[in-house]
Amino acid sequence: MGGPGELPIIAVGSGKGGVGKSSVAVAIARELVRGGRKTGLVDADISGPDVPRMLGLRRDVPARSVTLTGWAPGGRGGSRHEAMEVDGLKVASAGFLMAGNQALAFGSDLGDLLLGRLLKETDWGDVEALVVDLPPGISVSQQGVLSGAGRVAAILVVTPAEVSHLDTGRALTALRGVRTPVLGGVENMAYFECPCCGEKTELHAPAPEERTIWAGGVERLARLPFRPGGTMTAADLAPALDAVTAHIDAAFP
Ligand SMILES: Nc1ncnc2c1ncn2[C@@H]1O[C@H](COP(=O)(O)OP(=O)(O)O)[C@@H](O)[C@H]1O
Ligand SMILES: [Mg+2]
Repeated sequence: MGGPGELPIIAVGSGKGGVGKSSVAVAIARELVRGGRKTGLVDADISGPDVPRMLGLRRDVPARSVTLTGWAPGGRGGSRHEAMEVDGLKVASAGFLMAGNQALAFGSDLGDLLLGRLLKETDWGDVEALVVDLPPGISVSQQGVLSGAGRVAAILVVTPAEVSHLDTGRALTALRGVRTPVLGGVENMAYFECPCCGEKTELHAPAPEERTIWAGGVERLARLPFRPGGTMTAADLAPALDAVTAHIDAAFP
């Protein structure tokens, strides 16, 4: 791990839910581990902590009490939390504190507080980088929490739909406002390729070019098909992985 504040953080975000942030975050984290990098994955989407399920982890026992005092430094809940490890990937998730269908009605301030706890009070051991699966929407205060924990860069996930680009454009404005570098974007669930004849069918009415985040200067790193099961391969994400590893390597000159 680099010095304090130097840990490379890759934040995977978007303006919208359901576009594939968690899938992209999990796939990137797993590929980093496969490439021999010690990696941590932070599941920061407190209203939809899906990472444990995606990694085959489940917790059926309701949390005794899901209170932030339990997370206070030196508080009764203890100040460090073990990360869970799955196939060499270290994971910290708000989901570990909640049973499968428990819901937390946290406001965004509390979301930022919990993000800070997950980042800083997890015992990450010797990880070289953290991938963070963000909740939908990106705020200035959230970026402050991330940049307090390391050197942040963002990957944005969109579908080709106009609303996806509009909302993610707002997220982009927030990122630029706080000078978080954007490594690029992943366009997900763009088309379906017929398994019989290979014909490609576009799944969304595409956003007008000038309203896309691509027109806003974000590099399109991948254009992924809809695949039943939602699997993402190393080949799908190769340019995104190159950008991510370059960000990580820049932290260790
Ligand atoms: N390329 C894809 N093809 C098919 N299904 C996908 C694809 N990407 C994601 N999914 C599925 O869509 C749903 C939403 O994806 P998820 O990664 O949870 O999005 P988010 O984290 O942005 O809410 C999940 O059920 C996921 O498996
Ligand atoms: Mg998600």
